[in-house]
Amino acid sequence: MNKYTFRPGPANPLVQAPKPPAALPFAASDLVYDDDLTAADVHVLLNVASQMRRNPGDYSGALSGRTLALLFEKPSLRTRVTFEVAMKGLGGDAIFIDCRGEPLGVREPVRDVARNLDRWVSAIAARTFRQSTVEELAEWAGIPVINALSDRVHPCQALADMLTLLDHFGHLAGIKLAYVGDGNNVAHSLLLTGSKLGVDISIACPPSYEPDAAIVAKARQTAVESGSSVRIVNDPLEAVAGADAIYTDVWTSMGAEHEANSRKQHFMPYQVNEEMFGAAAPNAVFMHCLPAHRGEEVANEVIESQRSVVFDQAENRLHAQKALLWLLLSQ
Ligand code: CP
Ligand code: NVA
Repeated sequence: MNKYTFRPGPANPLVQAPKPPAALPFAASDLVYDDDLTAADVHVLLNVASQMRRNPGDYSGALSGRTLALLFEKPSLRTRVTFEVAMKGLGGDAIFIDCRGEPLGVREPVRDVARNLDRWVSAIAARTFRQSTVEELAEWAGIPVINALSDRVHPCQALADMLTLLDHFGHLAGIKLAYVGDGNNVAHSLLLTGSKLGVDISIACPPSYEPDAAIVAKARQTAVESGSSVRIVNDPLEAVAGADAIYTDVWTSMGAEHEANSRKQHFMPYQVNEEMFGAAAPNAVFMHCLPAHRGEEVANEVIESQRSVVFDQAENRLHAQKALLWLLLSQ
């Protein structure tokens, strides 16, 4: 949200939503990058998400009259549906704008898209190729902008994943999360958000597929502050030793399909299978943001096993994003 040039349009907000009590400080005005949320913000959000899940009726009119615009340059099942259901569950509405055929900025400048939308809707969730696109939307729109996945980060996924770990283990500090596979957008958000909450993160990637060095450096610095740790290695067994959770994601992210064949060769030793779980903690869970490719990054018997919490993660996308929308739009 651009705090310097925003002039409230006449139709925004249409209806005053109930405000969070003062005991729930939430400093963020956008979520374009994981670091827009402080550790305190994330704790508030996880708390609100749990309350919303327990008592959804208490929030059923909280965003009455509000509309979320969903601008998606890439396909989606979970993110689209959970944002739409979240807005409807809060008494608001959502409009899906399919940008898959024509990325933002082609027909008109991104800054103009932002300045049009903020006259009509209350918030934007954007799934983009470039991180700079979602940042530009936030810079020029006077309404909250949420990153619904970019090539660089997937912050909403990390929030749902933290909620899932909290549900399962009852705490986050000291949890050992091993991520095995591509050092991609999902890995980046787990690093940035997890390190803030005291989660120990070990990542194993093939050489030259490690997460971005600047993100690793930032996560390491945050880990020092929260008392957690960040390790980046090439040996998957080293990363998963004693882990409470093993997480993986597709080897080829949306937009990199032309690399799929060469990636398969590099990543095969990184498949999460039962043998790999032998090195983890006895009650370790399996995590995946989905969609999953069985036989590639995960063996079928692992994703279908009792230890798999992938559909809890998917459900928690709804609760985490509902809390996020309410906190962003009730300030
Ligand atoms: N995990 C996730 O973001 O799924 P979608 O791509 O289906 O939205
Ligand atoms: N890394 C994956 C995540 C999909 C939810 C991608 O960007 O395609």
